[in-house]
Amino acid sequence: MELDKSIAAVAKGLYAVVLFCIQMQSIKEVLSKDQVGKKVGVRGWIYRTRSSGGIVFAVLRDSTGLVQVTVKKGAVPDADFESSTKAGIESSVEIEGEVAEDKRAPGGYEVRASRFKLVGASEAFPITEYQSTELLLDLRHLWIRSREQTAVTKIKASLVRGGREWFHDNGYTEVNPPIVTGVCPEDSTTLFQLKYFDRIAYLSQSAQFYLESLIYSLEKVYAITPSFRAEKSRTPRHLAEYWHMEMEAAWVDNDGNMKVQEELVSAMVRNAVSECSDELKLLKRDPATLKKIEPPFDRMKYEEAMEFLQKKGHDVSWGSDLGAVEERTLTVDREVPVFVINYPKELKPFYMKENPEDSRTYKNSDMLAPEGFGEIIGGSERETDNALIIERLRDKGESLDSYQWYLDLRKYGSVPHSGFGLGIERIVTWVCKLEHIRDAIPYPRTVARVYP
Ligand code: 4AD
Ligand code: MG
Repeated sequence: MELDKSIAAVAKGLYAVVLFCIQMQSIKEVLSKDQVGKKVGVRGWIYRTRSSGGIVFAVLRDSTGLVQVTVKKGAVPDADFESSTKAGIESSVEIEGEVAEDKRAPGGYEVRASRFKLVGASEAFPITEYQSTELLLDLRHLWIRSREQTAVTKIKASLVRGGREWFHDNGYTEVNPPIVTGVCPEDSTTLFQLKYFDRIAYLSQSAQFYLESLIYSLEKVYAITPSFRAEKSRTPRHLAEYWHMEMEAAWVDNDGNMKVQEELVSAMVRNAVSECSDELKLLKRDPATLKKIEPPFDRMKYEEAMEFLQKKGHDVSWGSDLGAVEERTLTVDREVPVFVINYPKELKPFYMKENPEDSRTYKNSDMLAPEGFGEIIGGSERETDNALIIERLRDKGESLDSYQWYLDLRKYGSVPHSGFGLGIERIVTWVCKLEHIRDAIPYPRTVARVYP
């Protein structure tokens, strides 16, 4: 009798060891025909759960998908069954069981549990089906577990990886410019100032000037950094902190710059379509539409854009800036991005190269995403004439002190060069067809929000 008990205890101990030792698999690996009849281990979080007549039906999620697990009284130790009835939404669990085909289950398969281990119980989860946008932003640290946010994050990673690979394959070197700077490449009204020891510095708006300095040794460089803009207006396209993919290259003119942009963007989108078609479908974005993104993209002069907008009833004329509304009209009927080129000088920063064919304009381009999404890239050929740069900085009322080093770059072996900056959350918003840019980043920073 005693012996029987101790054999049983040893057997139970062994079982526990086996449960811990069983190879855990991802949900995606478990959902396949050749797993049917096999014993598997899966772990994750409870996505939804219900019980009826001595069976618990729990749907588990992990980063790779959803799978239904059935826990039947009698098929698992009593304590395990008890745990499974108590495990609520978002509890973390480990399961061992056999894979079976079941047409009604998500993905077509289920795991029939032989063990059920509650790892971390969950209190009543504060996010239920219909919640206000504000509440979801307050609970962002929990909302990022949602399937939509998970899909967006994966697509973003895939776009960025596609970009990095393209740069690598085309001879660019990744570099690390500073985030704390003394220069203002873009609009001075959107600078974030910070106390830097005993002086004032700024959070970087763009790595451009530093990338320009690196082309003299590396020729073709790129960087992926956070950029900061103190945008006071609330819009669905602006963040105060966003991720910026920027490139700079020696011996490249404005046309060459646009070729790089269209190839890069096509490569990024191609990568996301090939790696993330399930995630795109989950977001109701048809991957077939994105397969059309291949170079070349149309080029439209600013002047032509104005004529087009006037015909569509916009009250614009030479010198009008293109805002979200105008960019929407320009792109809403397009399936592929378009470049708007040669903007009037007064609309763009001081560092751009004058257009020799029309001195009112610069050799620059903005790339607008189709379907109404608008600007995703700003780029230009760079001015190499220091006298012109100094004149423009003076006109802007800038002190030249912080720019001496930038002016130096033109004194020692200056070369024609160009570059651009791509807003990573902007391309994600378009590719994922999001209504608001804040959903393209886990923790959006806007004028109203630094929590969580
Ligand atoms: O057009 P921008 O201001 O250009 C520059 O910063 C250049 N110095 C880049 C360069 O040539 N290296 O910004 C570039 C891109 C925009 O096209 C847009 O996609 C994104 O950065 N962007 C923003 N994204 C999110 N929130 C904001 N507030 C953004 N401001 C610009
Ligand atoms: Mg711009």
